[in-house]
Amino acid sequence: MKIIVIGGTGLIGSKLVAKLSQQGHEAVPASPRSGVNAVTGEGLATALAGAQVAVDVSNSPSWEPAAVLDFFERSTGNLLAAETAAGVTHHVALSIVGTDRSPDIAYFRAKVAQETLIKSSRVPYTIVRATQFFEFLSAIAETGAIGNRIVVPTAMFQPIAADDIVDYLAGAAVGQPLNGTVDIAGPDKAPFNEFIARRLKASGDSRSVIGDPTAQYYGAPIDDDSLTPSGTAWLGPTDLKTWLAKA
Ligand SMILES: NC(=O)c1ccc[n+]([C@@H]2O[C@H](COP(=O)([O-])OP(=O)(O)OC[C@H]3O[C@@H](n4cnc5c(N)ncnc54)[C@H](OP(=O)(O)O)[C@@H]3O)[C@@H](O)[C@H]2O)c1
Repeated sequence: MKIIVIGGTGLIGSKLVAKLSQQGHEAVPASPRSGVNAVTGEGLATALAGAQVAVDVSNSPSWEPAAVLDFFERSTGNLLAAETAAGVTHHVALSIVGTDRSPDIAYFRAKVAQETLIKSSRVPYTIVRATQFFEFLSAIAETGAIGNRIVVPTAMFQPIAADDIVDYLAGAAVGQPLNGTVDIAGPDKAPFNEFIARRLKASGDSRSVIGDPTAQYYGAPIDDDSLTPSGTAWLGPTDLKTWLAKA
């Protein structure tokens, strides 16, 4: 099966291209580095020719509110139009658990806009909403850095390993379109600050991690339901302890 991976050079995308290729599929990474720009539309028609499936794991270079919204609206609109023209029969996109529950987070609003375009297009689709990657915990910690302390929320958190996301996406890409959304998360749920403290400790970072119920997540308050799946979810097998041992 020919599968185009938009954002196929990124963290998730490069792992997904490798996984699908190992499984015998023709997995083709497409991104500005290979002359494919979903925001301008450059190279999309050529990249999608003959493909059955497109998986969108691209990400905006800027998370500034207007820029990230513009990125996901333009890239998703261009992709879906090009997929329709090319006869692609399945669009798979990676989104985030709880995007619709925190409208104060600009990045989440942009992902909701992406999801809305996908749902209103004629291309059959599967939206996979994942929780935060273990690989992203260090970057999240830095958003709470105040002097020699890391101040982060105490709300429940359920991050997942990128490799588990990739396993799920690889299955979704070769499966039937759900024409719906599925949530995926890590195996363990615990307070946000506990995950961050474990990540920092494992990397030898001696800064103290302070859990503050009023601390914000990317500019917005969060509660126990903001970032964790609210209903049925597929749970990746890798826990943080196992992931840290390999990181
Ligand atoms: N971080 C999290 O915890 C989390 C949780 C759930 C879901 N997600 C979602 O996961 C997805 C992938 O994230 P990631 O961390 O793997 O991304 P990443 O490592 O930042 O990679 C971004 C990819 O997007 C490509 N790209 C940038 N501009 C593009 C354009 N104009 N057209 C086509 N491709 C473009 C980049 O290509 P070049 O290399 O050519 O620049 C790169 O391949 C994102 O959509 C994000 O919303 C993230």
